[in-house]
Amino acid sequence: MINSPLQDWRPFYEKEAKRYDHSRYGGCYGRLFRKLHHETLVYLVRPHAFGRTLDVAAGTGHVTFLLASMGFDVTALDLTEAMIRLAQKKLHEQNLHANYSIGSVLELPFSDESFNLVVSTRFLHLWPYEQQKIVLSEMTRVLVTGGMLIVDFDNWWHKSLLSLPIFIYQKLTGKGRKVGEYYNRFRQTILMLESLGIRINDIHGVGGYHLFLPAIFSQALARTLGRINGSTSLRVISEQFILKGQKR
Ligand SMILES: C[S@@+](CC[C@H](N)C(=O)[O-])C[C@H]1O[C@@H](n2cnc3c(N)ncnc32)[C@H](O)[C@@H]1O
Repeated sequence: MINSPLQDWRPFYEKEAKRYDHSRYGGCYGRLFRKLHHETLVYLVRPHAFGRTLDVAAGTGHVTFLLASMGFDVTALDLTEAMIRLAQKKLHEQNLHANYSIGSVLELPFSDESFNLVVSTRFLHLWPYEQQKIVLSEMTRVLVTGGMLIVDFDNWWHKSLLSLPIFIYQKLTGKGRKVGEYYNRFRQTILMLESLGIRINDIHGVGGYHLFLPAIFSQALARTLGRINGSTSLRVISEQFILKGQKR
């Protein structure tokens, strides 16, 4: 068990659960982000015939749903019962199967090396950089040697390069957080994962507020721009970056 004064997010997400999908994946930009995120994950997991898969902080099942529909043997874990119930309902409605577990990433209820793939999305940005390492080491513990880790981070470069439009957007909508240690830099993050025994073998960008206007006018155009953005060196301005690595 890891003893640490890490923030307890449960009260926030118990309340947030009902509006989560609508606020994160509704609207023009939310729908675009969801599509780009799913496409990138499919690209990253497809070459592998994974065995047991763990979706850490699965929330309402954004990734669990995708992996279950691809035939993965997936376990969705989340701290918040209200979130995991929504995931369960979403998959059940589509006759998809997953295992569900309520628990904390700080003490995953699984033995060492019990999963071939561990995925976690839109989660690590909840923790400052130093605490991310604690969270990631627990994810790494349950991963088999040679297994894959796929995790994403909020991108410091996106926030910094687009600081003026983001500032205006946040003022208008009341959304968003201050630039701080919750945003990751590519190099620093790769080094952190390598220090935990993960060899990085792919990196992609997803989304970006510069896609906001194109998304209003044409989802198809915004998706094309988003794909170019995420898979080339322009990934530096993506809202998030996804790293895929293998446990040594
Ligand atoms: C922003 S949501 C991400 C949900 C989902 N992965 C997605 O991509 O949409 C963050 C999730 O982290 C969960 N969470 C927060 N602290 C946690 C912890 N210590 N252990 C496991 N899950 C946690 C919350 O309950 C919430 O469902």
